[in-house]
Amino acid sequence: MCTQSPVRSRGLIYPTISRATRPGLLALARLLLGFVIFPAIALHAQPTDHPPDTLEARLLACAACHGRQGQGTDNDYFPRLAGKPVGYLMNQLVAFRDGRRRYPPMNYLLEYTPDAYLQQISAYFAALRPPQVPQAVADASPALLARGRLLVTEGDAGRGVPACAHCHGNKLTGMEPAIPGLVGLHASYISAQLGAWRYGTRTAAAPDCMQFVAGSLTESDVSAVAAWLASLPIPPDPSPVARGTLPMPLVCGSEPN
Ligand code: HEC
Ligand code: HEC
Repeated sequence: MCTQSPVRSRGLIYPTISRATRPGLLALARLLLGFVIFPAIALHAQPTDHPPDTLEARLLACAACHGRQGQGTDNDYFPRLAGKPVGYLMNQLVAFRDGRRRYPPMNYLLEYTPDAYLQQISAYFAALRPPQVPQAVADASPALLARGRLLVTEGDAGRGVPACAHCHGNKLTGMEPAIPGLVGLHASYISAQLGAWRYGTRTAAAPDCMQFVAGSLTESDVSAVAAWLASLPIPPDPSPVARGTLPMPLVCGSEPN
């Protein structure tokens, strides 16, 4: 029901939902999500055989694109949400609501959603631990994968590329409260995000360390890290490491230390 075709916009690839399904799907999703904002209206309008108005039921609004448990889908551009640090998810929801991160269906869905509700949604997905969605095997050469592994685990000091693992963790499951894990994401999604930072269409709180990191990578570095990260299985315990336990070679405005 949510079939997408990637479109290019300013050099970036974005997923779109087909014109036929978009208005109906999104209107329905917004209606589901909106129950909590106008609970009195929702309760009043519902006949008694309506399913209970739980947070889980409302978040079915997100299921078509993120999976029922936030586990992700086989779509190349729709990210996994489950198990990411709560502060990270909150920062993203606020960024979509306020237009600092652009993806029209998400911007539309979250418009006018109050912080308190976004916090509840973030806590809900952060606590879930669904099994991994099988990934399509990346069509990447062993040399590209080896290059990706090196950049992620050690960086490239000569060119000023910091090791991703120094902030995202040795197991790449992220760090509390606001650095996300990088496992369980599709290669196309990872490259699109790094591209968005480079083009300035995705920004985080200043100093925006990821803008610096993305700017230090060449196109082929991006392909290499994306391919290697996407090839990793999610570890048995995908929880982010505790706050302050990683060296963090740069200051990040979104990650208080
Ligand atoms: C029509 C499909 C669609 C729907 C419905 C949708 N999302 Fe998304 N969501 C996306 C896409 C695509 C992205 C990545 C956008 C980008 O390129 O930055 C995204 C990104 C996100 C992110 C950031 C993830 C990350 O790792 O940075 C969060 C959090 C999120 N969505 C939460 C939600 C929630 C909560 C709902 C339901 C209220 C929802 N989404 C509904 C498609 C959707
Ligand atoms: C200095 C710390 C730091 C380093 C080094 C770092 N990151 Fe990040 N990364 C962050 C923070 C903080 C965020 C969250 C930004 C936000 O709130 O949008 C992030 C977010 C991301 C995201 C978005 C994930 C999602 O689900 O949308 C990707 C992709 C990413 N980093 C990739 C990398 C790669 C690849 C490297 C290494 C080349 C790297 N990062 C190095 C701190 C870092």
